[in-house]
Amino acid sequence: MAALVNQKPFRLGMIGYGFMGRAHTNGYKRVNDFFDLEYRPVLKAACGRDADKTRAFAKNWGYESVETDWRALIARDDIDAVDICTPNNTHAEIAIAAAEAGKMVLCEKPLAMDLAQGKTMVEAIERAGVPNTVWYNYRRVPAVTLAKQLIDEGRLGRIFHYRANFLQDWTISADLPQGGAGLWRLDVAAAGSGVTGDLLAHCIDTAVWLNGSITKVCAMTETFVKERKHNLTGKIEKVGIDDACSFLCRFENGSLGLFESTRYARGHKALYTFEINGEHASIKWDLHDLHRLQYFDHRDDSIVRGWRSIHVTDGDMPYMKHWWVPGLQIGYEHTFVHQIADFLTNLAQGQPTAPTFRDALETQAICDAVLDSAETNQWENVVPIV
Ligand SMILES: NC(=O)c1ccc[n+]([C@@H]2O[C@H](COP(=O)([O-])OP(=O)(O)OC[C@H]3O[C@@H](n4cnc5c(N)ncnc54)[C@H](O)[C@@H]3O)[C@@H](O)[C@H]2O)c1
Repeated sequence: MAALVNQKPFRLGMIGYGFMGRAHTNGYKRVNDFFDLEYRPVLKAACGRDADKTRAFAKNWGYESVETDWRALIARDDIDAVDICTPNNTHAEIAIAAAEAGKMVLCEKPLAMDLAQGKTMVEAIERAGVPNTVWYNYRRVPAVTLAKQLIDEGRLGRIFHYRANFLQDWTISADLPQGGAGLWRLDVAAAGSGVTGDLLAHCIDTAVWLNGSITKVCAMTETFVKERKHNLTGKIEKVGIDDACSFLCRFENGSLGLFESTRYARGHKALYTFEINGEHASIKWDLHDLHRLQYFDHRDDSIVRGWRSIHVTDGDMPYMKHWWVPGLQIGYEHTFVHQIADFLTNLAQGQPTAPTFRDALETQAICDAVLDSAETNQWENVVPIV
């Protein structure tokens, strides 16, 4: 009997089984159902520090084995690629060790705790010459990819303004502790920063991709709740993260940027929006309505001129021919499927998958400049990434 599947295995080791561990695993499991690829992910091992919880995750999601130490996972000969879905303070050590062991590395964002650490990661990954990518997955929302296409086609003309927000409201209670499972985001030692590295990093990655480099920034941050109980020590400790951050910036193309992120915008859960205003046309996008792109073109006849709400579901729109029929939308989890599909396609062709570690370093440099500016109360230049 002839084998139905004749694909190269992509033997995966997943580190972390939380939110992203699940979102990525869903992507690896689904990708060959919808994309025609030379490679097929094989869920070789899941890694977490708690053996029982890791085993439960591996059983639910179909991993063949478990490890409780990421070093043991990286040492295995039957693992080709390592996916880092752990808190930010662990990315560098794992990524560098994995690259030195010759593994491909798919790393969650933000790449690093800061620019200096990010540089050591880029050096290690480029020295090892292993395929790599960083999970700035919003690039692969079809409507956002369509925005990129419209901009690259020159439909907007000269760009004047770029505006982005990422608003949440889940840390308003002063009783919420910091540190440990789920709440490591409030602990500066694990997260590196607050909304800047967690949320604005996404906005910045999309902005640089759509509108080019940011050259200088002027920022303010605030920590509204100054002390919280720390889950790991049981003590009340100072909060070191930024709860909110707003910044102005200049782009290399001459346009002006305005960014805001907070976890104190009552009523908003994950309101990531951006708007771009060009000479001929403008674009707006909203994560809460992620399958739509709003487009206004001044060149339309005046009697029908107005904002169009483009339902990004047709087969000739980015990624959509792989899914259902026109008119039926897809969602958040599909962005991870898309990034894996692109990674495996590029792997087969010997091409890099953006954003690479080096691409993600630019976002890191901008986050550093934003946090520096909030400290100095001055405009700060962004360190250029060559
Ligand atoms: N791309 C996105 O949209 C997106 C969304 C959420 C989170 N993230 C990023 O993904 C990463 C993980 O975030 P999350 O929300 O999944 O966190 P989470 O708290 O849900 O899960 C973190 C996982 O890491 C494990 N872990 C922690 N330290 C470990 C270690 N030393 N060895 C092995 N496992 C360890 C934890 O047990 C847990 O399973 C972070 O870097 C975060 O910034 C990205």
